[in-house]
Amino acid sequence: MVDPDGRELVMSCGAALAHLCVALRGLGHDAEVSTFPDPGDADLLAIVAGGGRHTPDAGDRELFQAIETRRTHRAEFAAGPVAPRSLALLRTEAESAGADLTVVTGEERQDIVTLVGEGDRVQFGDSAFRRELAAWMRPNHTRRRDGIRGDAMGLGAVTSLVAPTIVATFDTGGRQATKDQRLAQASPALLVLSTAGDAPADWLSAGQAVALLLLRATAEGLGASFLNQPIEVPVLRDRLRTRLGGDTHPQLLLRVGRASTGAGSLRRPVADVLAQRGR
Ligand SMILES: Cc1cc2nc3c(=O)[nH]c(=O)nc-3n(C[C@H](O)[C@H](O)[C@H](O)COP(=O)(O)O)c2cc1C
Repeated sequence: MVDPDGRELVMSCGAALAHLCVALRGLGHDAEVSTFPDPGDADLLAIVAGGGRHTPDAGDRELFQAIETRRTHRAEFAAGPVAPRSLALLRTEAESAGADLTVVTGEERQDIVTLVGEGDRVQFGDSAFRRELAAWMRPNHTRRRDGIRGDAMGLGAVTSLVAPTIVATFDTGGRQATKDQRLAQASPALLVLSTAGDAPADWLSAGQAVALLLLRATAEGLGASFLNQPIEVPVLRDRLRTRLGGDTHPQLLLRVGRASTGAGSLRRPVADVLAQRGR
């Protein structure tokens, strides 16, 4: 429901691809990447070969080390601006993967905060969206290894047990809009990641870009979280695009700031997502 074209799905694969390359370089190998290598197989997004020796520099090492500690921070960030130098580093990472990063400020930012609330109201007004979201919500004490635990959304143990039923049953869009608009408003930095085109190759680039910028943010001591609702609702995405000048396609909306640490995220075991040839 939330991603009918597989746009964010391809971005997620782009994020995995970037992590693979960061890991290869961190471990001392060149990463040779060929994207969409087979025109007859649109699902084959990339082939990565470990190339010759690569001597990791400080930047490679920082990104590699950030893999284990990076996670999405959904709570409010500490007050205080993000250093312009850090924002410039995030932009450099995004650009290295072929995407653009815009730090939105002033009236533009205010309009985007409004769009976030509108996005929540549209999405939560749709019972199929709510059921899908509920299916990915997990209690704080879960044996499952995927989905989003209640504590990652600021829920206590008991609330985390009932939250999926509440989300699936009632339209809580108004409350969600108030909460997300407050988070967007209070966020030290609001960033839009965008690409020149809007085809699967652009989505893959956006995924690589967001992975690199999130790892760099972690290395800079920053946390990040998503407010993608105005990009996931097509009519709002058009409005956002126009508001940003109409030249590029918004792919992700992020808030960034200083975050306290907290419970780690659920992660699938590597064996679940890695198929080995011949096995
Ligand atoms: C392309 C993409 C889009 C995402 N969109 C959202 C989103 O709209 N809301 C959200 O809360 N998290 C979003 N996430 C974050 C994922 O839920 C999160 O990365 C995943 O649950 C693993 O948790 P971690 O980031 O803490 O490792 C997105 C992640 C990616 C890669």
